[in-house]
Order: sequence, then structure tokens, then C-alpha cells
Amino acid sequence: MKKSEYLYLDHAATTPMREIAIKAFIDAEHEGFANSSGGHNLSRKAKNILEQSRETIAAIFNVAPNEIIFTSGGTEADNWSIKSLFNKKIDADSNLVTTNIEHEAVLASAQWIKDNDYNVTFSACLESGELDKSSFLNAINKNTIIASAMRANNETGIIQPIKELSNDVKKKNPSTLFHSDVVQAVVSDKIDFHKEGIQSAAISAHKIGGPKGVGAMFLSNEFKLPSMLHGGKQELERRAGTVNVSGVASFASALQEQQNNFDDEIMIMTKEKQEFEKIVKDNFKVKVIGESEKRLPHISNIQFEKVNSEVLMVDLDLNGLGVSRGSACASGAQKPSHVLKAMGVSKDFINNHLRFSFGWSTDLGDGKKAAKILLDSLEKIT
Ligand SMILES: Cc1ncc(COP(=O)(O)O)c(C=O)c1O
Repeated sequence: MKKSEYLYLDHAATTPMREIAIKAFIDAEHEGFANSSGGHNLSRKAKNILEQSRETIAAIFNVAPNEIIFTSGGTEADNWSIKSLFNKKIDADSNLVTTNIEHEAVLASAQWIKDNDYNVTFSACLESGELDKSSFLNAINKNTIIASAMRANNETGIIQPIKELSNDVKKKNPSTLFHSDVVQAVVSDKIDFHKEGIQSAAISAHKIGGPKGVGAMFLSNEFKLPSMLHGGKQELERRAGTVNVSGVASFASALQEQQNNFDDEIMIMTKEKQEFEKIVKDNFKVKVIGESEKRLPHISNIQFEKVNSEVLMVDLDLNGLGVSRGSACASGAQKPSHVLKAMGVSKDFINNHLRFSFGWSTDLGDGKKAAKILLDSLEKIT
């Protein structure tokens, strides 16, 4: 990626593609352009690239290759896991339990199930930003088909106690499928799906330096889900449609590079975020959301006293700093954040937040630079 004067701190929305991932995409297009489902030599080349990529990704999450199914991204994987069992004639008492701080891909899927007259619980979260484990578990019963809770929140970075939760869900109902949206957690945390009791997960390539429009669903071999797309028999007959082999190859190479550089990248993100938060806290009245909670190293959500986030965001943009108000969809719609609302942030402060998110291409010194631009803007507009 070419660095410009503009300081990009919106990596949680999307992050630049890694050079190695761009190269992997181009190489795969050259060598494996053929349809991976065909019967000739060139198709076999494409199929090999596809299966090697699947093995690379599976090994990173410590799962079997056939537990990884490629999708068009995190949104598709969330929709598929959550909706597909409610898509056929099932018992009317069947229900879904999720939380009220999920990404829109989960929330809207859950709402679709509710609109189809099934019981859905959107369990509360605590003021700390951690999901309310007892309210989640209270809702699990013998008819709970799916329980879904994100591994870490995309607006606050707050990490959720997924291992304990999945364990307790299983104690209440061993046949419930435990789904977790790990799209944001994968950016700066290591995950072993089986060890954490996650049986289905949504992963996205563009958050870790791969291409947009590619992702994967992890689905434990204990479960089968009906295909959402009807058509050909690709992806072991589980997802119809010609597979985006170059996108998948690029995804695998981005993920492998991220794993190879994991400690160094996390060290820089952590250092820069801490430096940024310290300078800002020392110089302006702010609250760092989830400061005392376990948070992903790349996300910092800050509440500014008496400062409208929209006005601040525009001024920061004009001064060369790109950040966001929360999740990309919410900022487009200019809606107050459902996550902050769920955490009990009052009306007076709900529009006073910005999310600063660091990434693999963050450099040493970026935290300090960002803090300076931010403090200059605050001085000007307050
Ligand atoms: C937590 C979370 N889930 C799901 C998604 C959607 O992923 P994709 O953009 O690959 O559809 C995102 C992206 O914003 C996310 O942050």
C-alpha cells in the first residue's frame, strides 16, 4: 500500500490489501483462472489453488479443511448460519438466542426470523459492554436451535466471554448450534474454534488485508446446514456458484501473512492505541469506552464531552484523519449506535463518539500524529 499524508484510522471498516494478497490474487488469476469445477487440466490447477487455500485457512483456526466453506464475506456467513435452519418446516417453538450488540448482519438475520413468527431473544448487555451472560443463558431452552454471540464487538472492541458462554449453552441444550461472528476478533486475536466451543463462525477477508467480497463460514462437522443458494454443487454441495478462486487464494495469503507477523503487528497496534488514548485523555475531557474491559488492540471508541461526532469527524477528515462513528452501515445511515444504546449510553452522549481503529499497516508514531490532529480539531470546534 502506498502511504499518503492522509492518516487512515478506520481499519475496522476495512483495511488495505496486503501486497502479498494482491500478488496471490494476480497469480491465481494467471494460473488458476479456469472454473474450479471443470474436468480438465486448467480446472485442476484452479481446484488445487482452492484446496491449498482452504488447508491454509483451516490450519490457522485448527479445524478440518472441510469445515471451511467459502462465501462472499462475513455477512453471507452470518445470514447462512443464522437463517438457514429456520428456512424449512420446523417446530413452531423453535427459537434463536442472540445479543443486542451484534453486527447488523446478525441482527437483521435475527429480525427476519422474528418476522417469520419464530421466537427470538435479543439478550441485553451490561453497562461495561460485556454481554449479560445470565440473561443470554436464561433464554436458552430445549427449543433453541441456534445461539449466536460475537467474539468481539466491532464498535467498541470489547471481547466477549465466548468460551464460557458456549460451554454453558451446551450444558442447557447440547443440540443448540453455537454461532459466533468472529469477523472483527480475527483482526487482532487468535482463535481456536473447537477449543472455544464455537460450532459455526463468520470470517471476512477484507478486515485482515485480503480482498472485499470474500469470506468463509466455519461449520463444525457435527452440523449440516441447508445451502442458502440454489444452483450447482460447488463447495462440497453446500454453496452453489462458481468459486472465487483468486479471491480465496488472496484471502489465504493475507491470513497467513497476518499470522506470520502477528506479534509484531499486535505490538504496534497496541502501542499506538495506548499512546493515542493517553495523549487524548491527558488533554481533553473524554471517556474511553470499555477502558477497563478486555478489548481488541485495534479499536478505540472515544466519547467526547459536548462534541458532536459528525462535526468532529468532518473536521478530522478535512485535516487528514479518516475515522468513523461506529459500524460503516450505521454511519452511512447517521443512526445513533445500537451498541452504545445497549450499553446504556444516555441520549446526551450517544452522538458524541468516534471509533479510531488501527491496523496491520499502522506505523509507529501514527497514534501520536492522530492525537495531534484530533486535539487541534477539538480546540477549533469547541
Ligand atoms: C463484526 C462484523 N460482522 C460482520 C461484518 C460483515 O462482513 P462483510 O463486510 O465481509 O460482509 C463486519 C464488517 O463490517 C463486522 O465488523
